[in-house]
Amino acid sequence: MKIIRAKDYHDMSRKAANIISAQVIMKPNCVLGLATGGTPVGTYKQLIDWYNKGDVDFSEVTTVNLDEYRGLPRENPQSYWSFMHDNFFNYVNIDPSRINLPDGTNMDAEGECKRYDEVIHNVGGIDLQLLGIGHDGHIGFNEPGAAFELGTHCVTLTDETIEANKRFFDKKEDVPRQAYTMGIKTIMQARKVLMVVNGKGKAEIVKKAFFGPVTPEVPASILQMHPDFTLVGDEEALCLI
Ligand code: PGA
Repeated sequence: MKIIRAKDYHDMSRKAANIISAQVIMKPNCVLGLATGGTPVGTYKQLIDWYNKGDVDFSEVTTVNLDEYRGLPRENPQSYWSFMHDNFFNYVNIDPSRINLPDGTNMDAEGECKRYDEVIHNVGGIDLQLLGIGHDGHIGFNEPGAAFELGTHCVTLTDETIEANKRFFDKKEDVPRQAYTMGIKTIMQARKVLMVVNGKGKAEIVKKAFFGPVTPEVPASILQMHPDFTLVGDEEALCLI
């Protein structure tokens, strides 16, 4: 595990974007595993900026996103498909046919999860997976207690996650109750994992996840066992370690 200390959110975003651009420059046809949430937005902004300056080219890159709400069509502004287009894909030269997310409108959970695992397998696996971390230690939508050996699966969101995500919706009742998510096994199979974390509110969970025992109760703790895991955090998030 490598820990990179950044001064603040802006610095964290630049450092993470640097690692992602290095990956794309070294392997232009790489597979990037991408994440939604507030934390990676600055990283995407920085990548867009470097794309506009001609420093990085996404034309051959394939992307697979971590998760999607079950039941939300792509066009819904709160879908992760919309989030990724609004915050990243619409502003770079990524080939739309190489963008992959779970299909929230496929209500056949088993079929959709199987399809998504096959997509990841068929593109050759993930070269670099970007992650945020939830206050309860979740990665993707793998909530505390999630089995480490799962591939893509359907989850029922915990109340804490619904509470954290309601800021993106008009009201709490609008937050979908279920999601399709890559499993911990899928994430652990990525060749590199890069986590971004910022703010005081995440300091406790960062300490617990990366300096406490490896346990399904803290899903991110398994990353201690990943052979190429990098944590980029700002001073506040890393203040307890
Ligand atoms: P956040 O979410 O970046 O919005 O804090 C992180 C997560 O839940 O994975």
